[in-house]
Amino acid sequence: MQSRTFGQTGELVPVIGQGTWKFPTDKNEFDGAVKALRQGIELGMTHIDTAEMYKSEEVVGQAIKTLPREKLFIVSKVMPSNATFHGTIEACEQSLRNLGVDYLDCYLLHWRGSIPLGETIRGLEKLIDDGKIRAMGVSNFDVYDIEEALGIAKHPIACNQILYNIFTRGPERQLMPLCATKKIAIVAYTPFGEKRIPEKGTEGGDVLHQIAEKHGTTVRQILLSFTVHDSNVFTIPKAVKEQHVTENAGAGKITLTAEDIRKIDQAFPAPKNPVSLEMN
Ligand SMILES: NC(=O)c1ccc[n+]([C@@H]2O[C@H](COP(=O)([O-])OP(=O)(O)OC[C@H]3O[C@@H](n4cnc5c(N)ncnc54)[C@H](OP(=O)(O)O)[C@@H]3O)[C@@H](O)[C@H]2O)c1
Repeated sequence: MQSRTFGQTGELVPVIGQGTWKFPTDKNEFDGAVKALRQGIELGMTHIDTAEMYKSEEVVGQAIKTLPREKLFIVSKVMPSNATFHGTIEACEQSLRNLGVDYLDCYLLHWRGSIPLGETIRGLEKLIDDGKIRAMGVSNFDVYDIEEALGIAKHPIACNQILYNIFTRGPERQLMPLCATKKIAIVAYTPFGEKRIPEKGTEGGDVLHQIAEKHGTTVRQILLSFTVHDSNVFTIPKAVKEQHVTENAGAGKITLTAEDIRKIDQAFPAPKNPVSLEMN
């Protein structure tokens, strides 16, 4: 598993982590979900993404209970409706209890709501000063949101978690270069895209299959390795099925060549002009 420095945190974080949105939370499936996360951690996917909204913090807590805390990179998020100064602190304290840990590696505002950003950032900074979170970040922030946040924040903004994949390349135009310049890591969510993956026999499908065959991998693994081909990007696929977890972790070893990227650029071009950030 390749790893790289996560924004200004100085932490080495694996390029492929684990998402937990829509993770099973009911009793019957709880053990399976715990097992999947533990399997992923054993395979090097130690960056685990959760959020108060996902209701997956208890599952994550169970999965990491007996593991050395310092080997994990645990991220959670506050909902915009709770993101007042006090609300941010209370939501984080609840997440810490749900997860059974005494600190988070990074804590994010899930998306921008109506509460003034300055209030949320003050709450995040208080959490850093009190040792409850090691770093703060944002999610679904477009260029103007990042610029506003940078104008307010006293502590570094470690990451911006956004919708980014081979089919949704708008952020490459302005947002990703801005974040790279400001040393804000990009965490790409929904890395397989929201639609069906193009099949063999279609132009895009053939390109993906050819690249996968050349590397001796699957198309899904190529999608993940494309997502992290930029040295400032991490991704967090969600998988509960054992086979999916193994496949996703395997993508952390692949390095696409300049020729692979050129073919992908032709088949799945980034938009020529800036577009607004999409959100899932
Ligand atoms: N910040 C935000 O606003 C935001 C928004 C969306 C997502 N996220 C985060 O990003 C994570 C990932 O995004 P996502 O959950 O939307 O989508 P995703 O990871 O792109 O896709 C998840 C789906 O793909 C399946 N899958 C995973 N690996 C596979 C493989 N190797 N082969 C075939 N199918 C595979 C999963 O199935 P199984 O589970 O059955 O294995 C699941 O149905 C989320 O879980 C969440 O942590 C953040």
